[in-house]
Amino acid sequence: MSILSGARIIVGVAGGIAAYKAADLVSKLTQAGALVDVVMTERAREFVAPLTFSALSQRPVWADLWEPTGAAAARHIDLGRAAQLILVAPATANVIARLAHGMADDMLTAIALASSAPLVIAPAMETHMLAHPATVANLATLRERGAHIVPAEPGRLASGEVGTGRLPSTATLLGAARLVLGSGGDLQGRRVVVTAGGTQEAIDPVRFIGNHSSGRQGFALAEVARDRGAAVTLIAGVTALATPYGVTRIDATTAATMRDAVLAACVGADALVMSAAVADFAPDAVAEHKIKKREVAARDGADMTLRLRRTPDILSELDAARGQFPGLVRVGFAAETRAVQAAARDKLARKGLDLVVANDVSQPASGFGSPTNAVWLVRRNGELTELPLLPKETVAEHIWDEVVALLPTRAARA
Ligand code: C5P
Repeated sequence: MSILSGARIIVGVAGGIAAYKAADLVSKLTQAGALVDVVMTERAREFVAPLTFSALSQRPVWADLWEPTGAAAARHIDLGRAAQLILVAPATANVIARLAHGMADDMLTAIALASSAPLVIAPAMETHMLAHPATVANLATLRERGAHIVPAEPGRLASGEVGTGRLPSTATLLGAARLVLGSGGDLQGRRVVVTAGGTQEAIDPVRFIGNHSSGRQGFALAEVARDRGAAVTLIAGVTALATPYGVTRIDATTAATMRDAVLAACVGADALVMSAAVADFAPDAVAEHKIKKREVAARDGADMTLRLRRTPDILSELDAARGQFPGLVRVGFAAETRAVQAAARDKLARKGLDLVVANDVSQPASGFGSPTNAVWLVRRNGELTELPLLPKETVAEHIWDEVVALLPTRAARA
């Protein structure tokens, strides 16, 4: 279950043109199971009607602190207390200034003052307003006080100019909410390394040997680790997926570059989950120019033979150099098409792993690219757990549960 499920989140919407984008944010948070209380500034209501937000959140929208029934005035303390997170998106220069100075002249600023929940601010405004020393200083004040600032993005602004000031995508805002909500999780203070995606080994400048890995399981592992408080290094092979917010991504698209990236990232790390599909063989030599049929025919006849050599086995190298990685919990994957459990046990022993996550990639629902996975977790002591078909995010939760259980023993293993 996602960290957003059941989370009490206040989304503060300020009066900028990006206010319409907050509708998508509220929709996605609500779909993820969060209880979203939308609080709008007076000016925000001129851009988007409160009804838009109440329809999406299925909860009342709070706007006018001074409305005559007194309900808003009575609720602002409760709402602030119940909130686990206050996410202001878009945050205008004006609301940032009022929050920085502790003002409480409307519902949003009053709630922020009455709450001890972490504050996430997503500024969105015209470039010059964002770069103005007053805004820079106000954001610095909020940051020093513990607020998390989601950087505005460059691009075309409503003014027609191109510059920094765009509200980040909903995916980025959701990532920031998840990061902050999970910062005290059971991987807090831990540094973990995750590999994801497939590798491509060049044959010539235009061709390669690759595989069908999408990177989905690895990216889910990185996101879930972040949601549990870890500092995550994601070493990405070939994948079309966007970098999760708050995760450090290093691209490594061949077995050799991935080896170097993994060995460097694992120094001082607490855990490595190696979910990338790394090529076992690569062309012995990369042709300098595109291979031509005519040239092959003249040399070898109609058919072409490609000679492959073994690539470095990253997990085995890590095992051989285990002294350099004291206490590193190591998890490998076994993507198999037959005798899955036996292959997983063999891999665990050969590569000196703590855990192997085995799956049968010949099954469509647990194969490459699918949103779900059905895996066996094979432990060092020989125990095995079969998980049913689950979303890859839930599989990731189970894998981190296993890693967390192994972490306290790291001093003993060192
Ligand atoms: O031996 P096999 O390639 O099936 O093992 C799979 C596991 O080993 C995966 O965790 C994969 O990321 C890792 N691996 C590796 N180095 C390779 C190939 C695979 O570390 N060259």
